[in-house]
Amino acid sequence: MDPQRKDYLATEAVYTADSLRIGDEYVMHEWERPLIRRMVEDLKLKPDDRLLEIGFGMGISASILQEFSPASHTIVEPHPQVLVQAERWKGTRTNIQLHPGYWQQLDIGAPALFGNLLRSVRR
Ligand SMILES: C[S@@+](CC[C@H](N)C(=O)[O-])C[C@H]1O[C@@H](n2cnc3c(N)ncnc32)[C@H](O)[C@@H]1O
Repeated sequence: MDPQRKDYLATEAVYTADSLRIGDEYVMHEWERPLIRRMVEDLKLKPDDRLLEIGFGMGISASILQEFSPASHTIVEPHPQVLVQAERWKGTRTNIQLHPGYWQQLDIGAPALFGNLLRSVRR
């Protein structure tokens, strides 16, 4: 999402048991889980990896990434309702940092600090 699109952050996000819709658009669905798992497996993650993930959505990729026990897992997400879900999902885990905002406005250190980047949002 382009940060210039000011209406995005005020557009309602609706979670169901198997999907996420933001406004009129379905942005994520459970059927994508096996595809996301394959994407994550292709990263060949190691337990000491530092991950940067762009967009929380339903947290499908985030949950699969956590199975690999990364040293750190930074998630960048601009939508306020999605951030609430992400906070709930994070719980008390200490290797996860939620970073409110758009990736285009990222100011969380040099990209070289991260071993892997997972982006599942449109440009
Ligand atoms: C397709 S969903 C991500 C799905 C997620 N990987 C999952 O497994 O559920 C896209 C997410 O990226 C977020 N997003 C959209 N544009 C973004 C941007 N420019 N920077 C960071 N996050 C963005 C959306 O708010 C939405 O939560």
